[in-house]
Amino acid sequence: MNILLTGGAGYIGSHTYLALAEAGYTPVIVDNFSNSHRGVLQRLQAITERPVLCEEGDVLDTAWVEGVLRKRRIGGVVHLAGDKAVGESVAKPLKYYRNNIGGAVSLLEAMQAAGCEVMVFSSSATVYGDPASVPIAEHFPRSHTNPYGHTKLVIEDMLAALNTAQPSWKIAVLRYFNPVGAHASGLIGEDPSGIPNNLMPFIAQVALGKRAHLQVFGNDYATPDGTGVRDFIHVSDLAEGHVAGLKALLERGESLTVNLGTGRGHSVLEVVKAFEAASGRPVAYQFAPRRPGDIAQCYADPSLAEQLLGWRASRPLDQMCADSWRWQSKNPDGYR
Ligand code: WQD
Repeated sequence: MNILLTGGAGYIGSHTYLALAEAGYTPVIVDNFSNSHRGVLQRLQAITERPVLCEEGDVLDTAWVEGVLRKRRIGGVVHLAGDKAVGESVAKPLKYYRNNIGGAVSLLEAMQAAGCEVMVFSSSATVYGDPASVPIAEHFPRSHTNPYGHTKLVIEDMLAALNTAQPSWKIAVLRYFNPVGAHASGLIGEDPSGIPNNLMPFIAQVALGKRAHLQVFGNDYATPDGTGVRDFIHVSDLAEGHVAGLKALLERGESLTVNLGTGRGHSVLEVVKAFEAASGRPVAYQFAPRRPGDIAQCYADPSLAEQLLGWRASRPLDQMCADSWRWQSKNPDGYR
């Protein structure tokens, strides 16, 4: 079955491409390469030993997307395309509302016109805002603290409204925790432009010698070592979660919303230590003030995903670090 994979050239998209191909689906990438690299396509081809199907364009172009859906006889859509930098969303909110919400509306209209009603959507644990307790379950109240998070929340609501109006739609909402790591081949991975916003790529660049030291944002949180605690999940586990979500929709036909996390929290300092062990390199760090908007701890109750999808994350923190290091050390300049 042909599956449209929007944002398929990105970090999570490229790993999801491999998981879909591995499971016997034929992924067709749609990407505008606004925050991804064409070089990833050759890497995907090298790993799968198959030609990569890619349509370059924008999900905001509804008529074009409808054409692709028809031409490629698409049986389901995995929608990852979108902007994802929290800080940028505060500075440029309209960009986020247009690309993320407008992009989802446009894609859904194209799907409706083409008669495709199966959608896996990339949401985020950010929809839980500052949770009252951990682990976080799907029924927890949702809120947002920045425009990026708001777009995920609005799209979730939009999907629910569509599903109420048209119960024939099958929709899986996947709430990601903190995706890290890279494919075991070392050929694909995260390639952030400029200074990384996120912890793991920043640590990898310190280990590589590209940056002098990590700033650890806050050491006075109510956590075991005072630093922030997150549910880091290997991107290949996350990718397999998409395949499990898609299969559940196609086989059981019931819409669902699940967390994709490991259920384990690791602190910033634990990640630093694990990365040093995996890379054999020192990771210098300095404590710095808390980052505005950060919460003390965030980790998933992943039991619903296991119950509904038969999926659970299996790759531990040391593997996340080893794979991230393999990618970073083999590709010091990413795909460039
Ligand atoms: C993790 C921990 C930081 C960088 C963000 C988005 C979220 C989601 C995933 C998409 C925190 C600390 C970080 C650094 C540090 N995105 N840190 N020094 O903030 O949990 O989640 O990415 O949906 O919406 O907010 O991830 O990797 O930025 O931070 O000390 O240089 O590492 O303070 O405790 P976060 P992160």
